[in-house]
Amino acid sequence: MFDVVVLAAGKGSRMKSITPKVLHPIAGKPMLKWATEAAKTSGAKTVHLVLGFGREQIIPALHDIDLQLAFQDEQLGTGHAVAQALTHVSNCDVVVITYGDVPLLKPETIQKMANLAADGSLAILTEFLSEPAGYGRIIRDNGFIKAIVEDKDASEQQKQITEINTGVLAAPTSLLQQWLPRLSANNAQGEYYLTDIVAMAEADGIPIQAAHPTNSIETRGVNSRLQLATLERDYQLNSAHQFLDAGVGIIDPARFDVRGDLQVSQDVSIDVNCIFEGRVVIEAGVSIGPNCLIKNSHIGRQCRIEANSIVEDSIMDEACTVGPFARLRPGTRLANRVKVGNFVETKKVSVGVGSKINHLSYVGDAIIGERVNVGAGAITCNYDGVNKHITEIGDGAFIGSNCALVAPVKISRRVTVGAGSVLTEDVQEDSLALARGRQRNIKNWVSPAKKLSV
Ligand code: UD1
Ligand code: CA
Repeated sequence: MFDVVVLAAGKGSRMKSITPKVLHPIAGKPMLKWATEAAKTSGAKTVHLVLGFGREQIIPALHDIDLQLAFQDEQLGTGHAVAQALTHVSNCDVVVITYGDVPLLKPETIQKMANLAADGSLAILTEFLSEPAGYGRIIRDNGFIKAIVEDKDASEQQKQITEINTGVLAAPTSLLQQWLPRLSANNAQGEYYLTDIVAMAEADGIPIQAAHPTNSIETRGVNSRLQLATLERDYQLNSAHQFLDAGVGIIDPARFDVRGDLQVSQDVSIDVNCIFEGRVVIEAGVSIGPNCLIKNSHIGRQCRIEANSIVEDSIMDEACTVGPFARLRPGTRLANRVKVGNFVETKKVSVGVGSKINHLSYVGDAIIGERVNVGAGAITCNYDGVNKHITEIGDGAFIGSNCALVAPVKISRRVTVGAGSVLTEDVQEDSLALARGRQRNIKNWVSPAKKLSV
């Protein structure tokens, strides 16, 4: 049984932002959410979060995760921060320490650390870096870890060591409870270093074990916007590589962004600069053109989404064509073989099999049957300034260009609506509806001409 303590009391002033550093997102999710969710999924009994700066913004942002909060009013060092949470850790064998600004640490790595400490060891997650400057160095003797020396306290010789402390640590709770009160701030930074417990473990004869991350992206911390942007890119590239390995046709893995949970079937092709947000499912044989944003949607087999389209909270059945420049807003549901063309906006609408809305339309709060043709520039007038109303269009209806369908209105099956009509009344089956001024041609009309001034 283990608890995780996530440290996030620091200010993060190098971000130069009024938003606390740990709320800045990686792949669309705040770093601290990544960190606390990983701690949760690792199987921790309780996840403790140590907050200081920005707590009034951070607490509401994490309201949906069950956390035990601890507060550190003055940032007196990582050892002092852990001590604030330790008073809440009860009858738990092991504590794992992680960081709010190290967002991509995997739940399995947390678990691995907890397992190492469960047999009475102090476990340290270390890594080998060709440029170790800034990090605490792992001091070994005959291969055994003896201590960690912080960069600012290290001798020139110690600075040559390339094995560094990632910061992630796990220890038996009872030992942490003995060690933390014994820390002193007698060092270059005047801080209570958590890392000093390593020398204490050595002195107490406690075994010290090192573990390593499976991917170095796991232990990357973020202190600046440049580091945030770099980690974002690396994360996205990693994820693109995984999709490519799984058989997804991504044209350029450097221009592919997933901010959420994307599921893709076979033989899907994705052109450059597409962004997938939230939960997106893409079935087999789909092709997606460049510059599309797809959010919380289900794209059925063989659909084509052309360039520059935006699809949000929508469902497409099979073989639909959407775009270029289409905007499917929440509640759009397209049946098989529906076509939605350029500069068409849809919202809360179901469109039946084989229907077409090909150009320059707004269709909202509507139920559209099968094989309907909605002409260029036709719109539903669904809003009277207070309420939204429904437009119904029956199977096989043909709506001429530039019609305004003033809801609530029902156009039955096989109706033709003449171009330019403003419909305010229901239309019966198999009728032609015309609701527009008749054309008058006035003969021998002389256009007014400007007088020439002399
Ligand atoms: C720490 C480690 C160092 C390691 C490095 C990895 C210590 C003493 N040193 O150094 O060995 O190589 O991380 O990045 O632990 N924090 C608090 N309260 C505090 C101080 C820090 O919550 O009083 C939090 C910060 O928000 C930050 C994290 O702990 O997320 C690390 O603190 P920081 O002071 O940046 O430690 P480093 O000097 O990087
Ligand atoms: Ca740091």
